[in-house]
Amino acid sequence: MNFSDSEIVASILNENDFESTNEIRDADVIFINTCSIRDHAEQRVRKRLEFMQSLKKKNPLLVIGMLGCMAERLKKQLLEEEQALDLIAGPDSYRDLPRLLTEVASGNKAINTLLSIDETYADISPIRYDSNGISAFISIMRGCENYCAYCVVPYVRGKERSRDADSILSEAKVLFQNGFREVTLLGQNVNSYHWKLDGTEASFATLLKKVASLDPLLRIRFATSHPKNLSDELIQTIAEKNNICKSIHLPVQSGSTHILNHMNRGYTRDLYLERIHAIRTFLPDCAISTDIIAGFCDETEEDHQETLSLMEHVAFDYAFMFRYSERPDTLAADRYKDNVPIEIKDRRLKEIIELQQKLSFKSNKKDVGKTFEVLIEGFSKRSTEFFSGRNSQNKVVIFPITQNIPGDYVQVKINQSTSATLIGEIC
Ligand code: 5AD
Ligand code: SF4
Repeated sequence: MNFSDSEIVASILNENDFESTNEIRDADVIFINTCSIRDHAEQRVRKRLEFMQSLKKKNPLLVIGMLGCMAERLKKQLLEEEQALDLIAGPDSYRDLPRLLTEVASGNKAINTLLSIDETYADISPIRYDSNGISAFISIMRGCENYCAYCVVPYVRGKERSRDADSILSEAKVLFQNGFREVTLLGQNVNSYHWKLDGTEASFATLLKKVASLDPLLRIRFATSHPKNLSDELIQTIAEKNNICKSIHLPVQSGSTHILNHMNRGYTRDLYLERIHAIRTFLPDCAISTDIIAGFCDETEEDHQETLSLMEHVAFDYAFMFRYSERPDTLAADRYKDNVPIEIKDRRLKEIIELQQKLSFKSNKKDVGKTFEVLIEGFSKRSTEFFSGRNSQNKVVIFPITQNIPGDYVQVKINQSTSATLIGEIC
């Protein structure tokens, strides 16, 4: 999400005669795009600002700006606390950046953290910098109104709003014409996407089908799905279209209904498992990944065991796993006690990570001997003698290079696996 925002910012600044540079010491303006989801992310930004302050000592004209969620959360307070900062812009004020920069040029500090109900940056074509030229993100929604008890997103990214479907389709089309072969449609809860298309109300499934119909050689991924909104219609759409990738990211957060209620997630353990059953029924070869939080308020040992048993039951292919960190102003911070001691949170997280490693290893081992269609993304990180790409299930596949080029689809037979990678050869 943040990366996609940085591309929008780059585009707005480019239109206003700024150029980007890969060399930080050449920059006249540096923006840090921030995330507030976990405290750890904010601490890292604070550290980064110390480094920026040292650059400023060498170049007093250097302008430092902070963008995104942390800017939105802390607003003016940040300008007071962080000497290095000249400018603050929240996620809905990027169009105002040229004006804010002019204000800084005239010797003032500048800030705009107004949230909007309709800003989607639909008309801005993001600049794809730092891209492999093969895969790109397309933001299709902004904001979130789910108010999960632990989560700061609704407060820092504002109301949920969907982006004009025609602008999404034309962005995907242009990307394809420019050689891209994979787009990931992004939103906090893509399943609640809605827009009028050809005069009728269009759901996310309709949008997905339209994007997938642009060209069979364009692969489509999407994230993130909320379990309470994952419809049968969507699962069937994924099944119908070959180029919609067979991989669903479905954050569970906890395996205990008691904790899910406490988190205000809007589903129970049974409902989550029922959705998994629907995916397995219609999409037998679909990979399923998730997000899990260890040690949320009032989580008992029994709740934790339920998370582990759900993980085993679903056999997730991949997971992002976090220790609960209390975020100011959230429902949990206001109403609950962060009462699971840190050592217990860490022990539970460790158990979750260890189990997931086993599950990922097992999932990859099952793929040995199978053949997958792989989209080549470039050289493998470790060796230019190997290509790296992904299969439809979003697993990284590496294999010895051939005469193919990035952007080609190839059939790869898997000979070996680790918990993170499949290794094979073109057949
Ligand atoms: N503490 C820990 N993890 C969190 N997440 C969101 N808020 C918090 C928090 N306060 C995790 C959730 C979410 C992912 C993006 O970040 O698992 O799905
Ligand atoms: Fe946060 Fe919940 Fe919205 Fe995800 S769905 S962004 S966890 S409030």
